Amino acid sequence: MRILITGVAGFIGSRFTEVVLEQAERLGYSELILLDALTYSGRRENLAGVLGDSRVRFVHGSINDGALTDELLQGVHSVVHLAAESHVDRSIAGAAPFFTTNVLGTQQLLESARRGGVERFVHVSTDEVYGSISEGSWREDHILEPNSPYSASKAGSDLAALAYHATFGLHVAVTRCSNNYGPRQFPEKVIPLFVSNLVDGKKVPLYGDGLNVRDWLHVDDHCQGILKVLEGGRAGEVYNIGGGTELTNRELTSRLLSLMGVGEEMIEPVADRLGHDRRYSVDCSKIREELGYAPHVPFEDGLAATVQWYRENEAWWRPLKGL
Ligand SMILES: NC(=O)c1ccc[n+]([C@@H]2O[C@H](COP(=O)([O-])OP(=O)(O)OC[C@H]3O[C@@H](n4cnc5c(N)ncnc54)[C@H](O)[C@@H]3O)[C@@H](O)[C@H]2O)c1
Repeated sequence: MRILITGVAGFIGSRFTEVVLEQAERLGYSELILLDALTYSGRRENLAGVLGDSRVRFVHGSINDGALTDELLQGVHSVVHLAAESHVDRSIAGAAPFFTTNVLGTQQLLESARRGGVERFVHVSTDEVYGSISEGSWREDHILEPNSPYSASKAGSDLAALAYHATFGLHVAVTRCSNNYGPRQFPEKVIPLFVSNLVDGKKVPLYGDGLNVRDWLHVDDHCQGILKVLEGGRAGEVYNIGGGTELTNRELTSRLLSLMGVGEEMIEPVADRLGHDRRYSVDCSKIREELGYAPHVPFEDGLAATVQWYRENEAWWRPLKGL
């Protein structure tokens, strides 16, 4: 069987590709087609561990290129779609590429999947599509109230994916995951941004009062969740994936400062992000009960190992700072 994965040169896609390759025999995949447009956040070096494998074919191209996706999706059994514009701050500075890639690109990929007779399509999305919640947690049937251009574009792509199931019978499942952390995350996102600043003796910019709450999940656990949905997710269903580690940004920052051996004087409060969601919280009982998913990486261990990775891999992140 052949699987096509998009967004493979990014943070989560590159790790997911490694995980699929490690388990390819068990999963029944003899061929992996890896598609990525290599935008600023897509790095060929992220694929160093997989490109030499004879089962892998890397294609440098866009999900918005219909002729290409039509060709690539012939004879493909499964699609896992991770390609996206992914950074909220960039979506505030310029929203157009977010709607072009996340909405129109996803629709193009769905269309090619439908025409090509794809049997399984997993669309990887985010808890940010639900908006912000002050108490309790979202279940999958909660209404979508996205607040940033990023989350609005992801919500659009979720709805397109579900419509391709309802209208055309494409076997689509959607995952909505909380904040990921781990190696190879682009140094614009909070953990690698803060660690790389601190390596250089620079302060870390903390938005607003620092009390916005995020649920953190190690990228390996996210990848296991996506695999569970790929293998057993029901068509037309949404599955939340979370870590159960809710922290305010201030708490996260304190842990990073302590792991880096510096004090609170390294925090530089900055004006809050426009439309900044206060709290995200996903209820993960559906994926746990239906598919037996549970996160395995304890947050303290995962965060310490992640900080260590950025300390040891300066050559990876330094050329990307400020891109
Ligand atoms: N990072 C998180 O915390 C998180 C949480 C939940 C969901 N997600 C979702 O997971 C997916 C991956 O996120 P990430 O953090 O790895 O992002 P990332 O920015 O690190 O990677 C995105 C990848 O998509 C590629 N890409 C962008 N536009 C493309 C196009 N038109 N055609 C083909 N490839 C294109 C980029 O080159 C890059 O390799 C996204 O869909 C994101 O919405 C991320």
